[in-house]
Amino acid sequence: MGDIAKPVARKQLPLRPAGPDTVAALLDWYDRERRDLPWRTPNGRGGRGRRVDPYKVWLSEIMLQQTVVKAVIPYYEKFLRLWPTVDALAAAELDDVLAAWAGLGYYSRARNLHKCAQAIVTAHGGVFPRSETELAGLPGIGPYTAAAIAAIAFGEAATPVDGNIERVVSRLFACRHPLPGAKREIKRLAETLTPQRRAGDFAQAMMDLGASLCSPKKPSCLMCPLQQDCHAHALGIAEQLPVKLVKPDRPVRYGIAFLALSEDGRVLLRKRPEAGLLGGMLEVPSTDWGDDWLPVDQALIAQPVRADWWSVPGVVSHTFTHFRLEMMVMRAIVPAETGLTFWASPDRCRWVPRRDLHAAALPTVMRKVIAHALKEQ
Ligand code: ADE
Repeated sequence: MGDIAKPVARKQLPLRPAGPDTVAALLDWYDRERRDLPWRTPNGRGGRGRRVDPYKVWLSEIMLQQTVVKAVIPYYEKFLRLWPTVDALAAAELDDVLAAWAGLGYYSRARNLHKCAQAIVTAHGGVFPRSETELAGLPGIGPYTAAAIAAIAFGEAATPVDGNIERVVSRLFACRHPLPGAKREIKRLAETLTPQRRAGDFAQAMMDLGASLCSPKKPSCLMCPLQQDCHAHALGIAEQLPVKLVKPDRPVRYGIAFLALSEDGRVLLRKRPEAGLLGGMLEVPSTDWGDDWLPVDQALIAQPVRADWWSVPGVVSHTFTHFRLEMMVMRAIVPAETGLTFWASPDRCRWVPRRDLHAAALPTVMRKVIAHALKEQ
């Protein structure tokens, strides 16, 4: 657990905990400073008070659980171009959805996105339910996303709490209990602030504040609209909150990948099993990922085609949620007619032209492996 340095009181603690005045100050700030994002209504005239299409809110919220706003925008725009409505997404092929998602990571989210679109069409007549409880019953919609959609798309007084909001709330109330144990308490404190009117704007204002002024390191307290209300600021401990339990190091797994390149410019890829990590995505065939690298003679049992393999210098490293993967890469150029080995299982393998790789359902780790294998060409 991180230690909190002795508090240096900047001034007397505010007498009252954050409340309606805090919310009003935050909403004023949001009306002036909010980020213009493609899934929001435009700011100013015509924007305020107008509801956003729940499909857009849902899509953006699922994507925003993966990565930062800047990285999400091109994916969000691509999905809306390909599937402008929930009906269109429900009717799409899963493989096309996985391919469009490739690069965002955590592919079970893309499968659930597709499943959820189908559930909305079949069980709800293509209309998103508006209550948090009903939303939370849909595939891939957890408590955070249910609350975000209910508040942002439907104006329900729901309280989504993501990492940014957790930081703002733990500072506002000087909550010193460590995360993740303090999650419940922080959610309860956030609920005390959620207004009946403009609950969606309130949630997004908290997100924007956490993404800008109330940053993890060196928060800009002097510019913060909530400075007067912030107990952590008053105590001089804003920078040290929220306290987080130190996470144990991720375990490391090791694998050897075989990149076979045909003489006519195609790459051999294999479809992963539907269930489990990167389910249904394409991969460069490899050994199992184990506690150590296999010796070459054992690794070669996993070669997808019999060929003269040479080892590409260097290692590809990729961090998943629960482990880090270190891949060595072997490469071979093979005649177009080379037969697959038993390990490659022909039904799961296919030759993909290099010019089509950009659109293939390849997760980031496999794009790294391919780039590494081909970089010295
Ligand atoms: N992060 C998660 N949801 C968000 C939203 N609606 N706006 C900005 N950042 C977000």
